[in-house]
Amino acid sequence: MSKSVSGFSKLSKSKKIDWIVDTYFTNKEDAKKILKQYWNSNESLQQLHDEFIENTISNYYLPLGVAPNFLINNKLYTIPMAIEESSVVAAASKAAKFWLDRGGFKSQVVSTQKIGQVHFICLDDFHKLEDLFSNIKPILVAQAKPITKNMEKRGGGILNIELKDKTKDLKGYYQLHATFETADAMGANFINSCLEQFAKTFKSEADKVGIDVEIVMSILSNYVPNCLVRVEVNCPVKDLSDNKNIDPEAFAKKFIQAIKIAEIETYRAVTHNKGIMNGIDAVVLATGNDFRAVEAGVHAYASRNGKYSSLTHAEINNGFFKFWMEIPLALGTVGGLTNLHPLVKLSLQLLDNPSAKELMQIVAVAGLAQNFAALRSLTTTGIQEGHMKMHLMNILNQHNLNEDEKSALVTHFKTNIVTHAAVVEAIDTLRGIKSE
Ligand code: MEV
Repeated sequence: MSKSVSGFSKLSKSKKIDWIVDTYFTNKEDAKKILKQYWNSNESLQQLHDEFIENTISNYYLPLGVAPNFLINNKLYTIPMAIEESSVVAAASKAAKFWLDRGGFKSQVVSTQKIGQVHFICLDDFHKLEDLFSNIKPILVAQAKPITKNMEKRGGGILNIELKDKTKDLKGYYQLHATFETADAMGANFINSCLEQFAKTFKSEADKVGIDVEIVMSILSNYVPNCLVRVEVNCPVKDLSDNKNIDPEAFAKKFIQAIKIAEIETYRAVTHNKGIMNGIDAVVLATGNDFRAVEAGVHAYASRNGKYSSLTHAEINNGFFKFWMEIPLALGTVGGLTNLHPLVKLSLQLLDNPSAKELMQIVAVAGLAQNFAALRSLTTTGIQEGHMKMHLMNILNQHNLNEDEKSALVTHFKTNIVTHAAVVEAIDTLRGIKSE
């Protein structure tokens, strides 16, 4: 029976673990052992992780893999990916190699603007509010100077502030809608600090002229349709096959058909885009960026025309196959975890310490590659063949096999179809267990 607790965050780590184990586990020593198994023996590294969040009791590991051979705008990258799903890195690597032989990926940052809003309520006359805003706009910017000074040195800052009338949608609701450039930072702290300062200045200037303003909240938006990157691959249709069993023309047509389905059918679009996010999130995580922000922004963008739809598109034009995607990505290569987490630093080094713009291109390419690999499998062999091959190790690991047994089974499944039942049967056969 669980119970509530007060003052939990003030307990030491070991007391927190004692409480958890006493409250929720019958096998208390086993639970403690598992939690401690994942502590880092390097105490300062462990302390660093303990201090990322509150109430840390252990570390949660994900594999960090790499996908080599990504040619992006004629530069070769090995892309780090943090992900648990068996087939994602293999699929990325395969797609990278495929396009390496066909000119690689082309990418381009379209725009880098970010948005933040001060949401407020005012029941006073709108024209008074407009006059106030136009008078005090320079003061809003000036009073944020202590916050913007350093960002300006790095090429960023406040781009604009607008007053928006939202009263048609909600009584008395207005916004200060601000746009920012945040250079190589993701910029959440910078934007939120600017917004909170705008709110203070705005409220006090409104008070001075007797306009009653109630600030509701000040916060950046994770919807960043003007922080956009475009990525593309293309080649003559006849070069689209690396396999005698695949006719390039038929493959190109079926691939485009699969995309058209994801453009018009929401059930398919969500899975289609999920596959893209397999690549995107893995690189976003490996480089210490906020994958929740990226996910929220990308899916909102996928619905921007009023219907959730495919993020990728493809066409054949004059015998040329073209496959592309435009996607909003607010990423940083300075600040946040980037200077703190040793594996994040290493991942960024592996990418030759990219600027935020370069990272936007790399991440988007990982998404496009992932979608290419998924659609290629789906429209030819089916997804399960490759997926289950990669998943084989997970199934074997659930059965406490020794290394010889594992290697015998891996050999066996090089020429046999992997299903959960087939693996269990093969294990039983190997161990001489008769199945009923
Ligand atoms: C699985 O994680 C991702 C796929 O379902 C994506 C897709 O269907 O396009 C294979």
